[in-house]
Amino acid sequence: MGLTFAAGLSRLGHRVTCVEKDPAKLHALRHGRVPFHEPGLAELVREAREGGLLRFTDDLAGAAPTASVVFCAVGTPPKPNGEADTSAVEEVVEAARRLGSGRLFVIKSTVPVGTTDRVSRRLPGPVVYNPEFLREGSAVEDFFHPYRVVIGTRTPAAAAVLEALYRPLGAPVVRTDPPTAEMIKYASNAFLATKVSFINEIAHICEYVGADVSRVAEGMGLDPRIGPHFLRPGIGFGGSCLPKDLRALLETAREYLLEPALLQAVLRVNEAQRRRFVDRLEVLLEGLADKTVAVLGLAFKAGTDDVRESPALAVAERLLARGAQVRAHDPAALEAAARVLPALSYFAEPYEAVTGADAVLLLTDWPEYRELDWREVRRRVRRPLVVDGRSTGIAPRLAAAGFQVVEPGSPVRGRAPRAEDSEWLT
Ligand code: UGA
Repeated sequence: MGLTFAAGLSRLGHRVTCVEKDPAKLHALRHGRVPFHEPGLAELVREAREGGLLRFTDDLAGAAPTASVVFCAVGTPPKPNGEADTSAVEEVVEAARRLGSGRLFVIKSTVPVGTTDRVSRRLPGPVVYNPEFLREGSAVEDFFHPYRVVIGTRTPAAAAVLEALYRPLGAPVVRTDPPTAEMIKYASNAFLATKVSFINEIAHICEYVGADVSRVAEGMGLDPRIGPHFLRPGIGFGGSCLPKDLRALLETAREYLLEPALLQAVLRVNEAQRRRFVDRLEVLLEGLADKTVAVLGLAFKAGTDDVRESPALAVAERLLARGAQVRAHDPAALEAAARVLPALSYFAEPYEAVTGADAVLLLTDWPEYRELDWREVRRRVRRPLVVDGRSTGIAPRLAAAGFQVVEPGSPVRGRAPRAEDSEWLT
């Protein structure tokens, strides 16, 4: 997020210095390499560097003397109890405090409600909370076409500086106080997560009542009050934001002795999705022990090599635990996945991964998989079964290639629902 934002600001004509503390990442950036997969970002960074507007350092004090604004874009990963760990933000604040007064301090990291006001009390200059809404995989596009800009501050002059900065992007601006801005960020991610769990729940019901969930989503989405987005059922939401932010919001609520039942259910449905997916596969294959399963897609979504909280990895891990051999492929996330789950067999070619498989699982919605030669896949597998965990919409093509296809919402046959599948309802 920090790098996309910095390179985007450079494109708007600003001189930006990025402070990176990880020596390996700094080395890569200084040599013109972006150390992760994000479409269009390498080009944007290269242009900005060549134009002399973007540079990299590990020294905030050295970078900041001439800067009029300091943006804090460090991570706020989850602590074991779900609470957001703001220690990296605290470190940046402390460094900014030592720089003295005179510049605007803007927090872009997702921070618990109340953080910005606390930071304001420690810094001599004005402080703003300005959440970021970039998505991985489309971050560059999102930077240039934001749906909105949220500016949370108690200092009107500071808000005016940021409004001017974002004006070229032409997005609606929401000016508010810091706690409201912080809550807009959490509530937005929690709502997106709710939409996904909602449609997953509907898909689960569709499996029993004979309704087609993709047509249900289409029919719902045409109502502008509902909208067509985030209604694709599958193995659930993952990544470094939606699950983490939902848990952090729940933790904040718990501090006030609140019990947000809907948000708790969103997480429980999300966890159940993965379990149901593996249970269903187990029934289809009449057991998983010693079966060979090909997993296509390991990243938490297409367009990224990020496997943090990836539902695909969670499914793969469960398959291993139940005795399956797992042969895995991903166009970008193989290395990242191998670091966290070395027990899978990894293949650089999808056709190799599917060879000899009793089932092929689509677990990340990479467009590459839609374009596969599925007849060739059919020749290589042991059993022609595809279980689509992402509602890719290619079932007709798969069926034409001779596959049995099971996707979210496909009618359940052959077993009565187990009690544990609906335990969250009770
Ligand atoms: C999310 C938000 O969409 C961004 O606006 C926000 O800035 C970002 O978190 C953040 O807080 O930094 P991101 O985590 O990149 O962005 O990914 P999303 O596109 O939101 O997808 C999250 C997960 O939901 C993925 O695992 C995706 O596969 C899943 N999903 C999404 C579904 O299962 N079904 C859908 O219909 C949509």
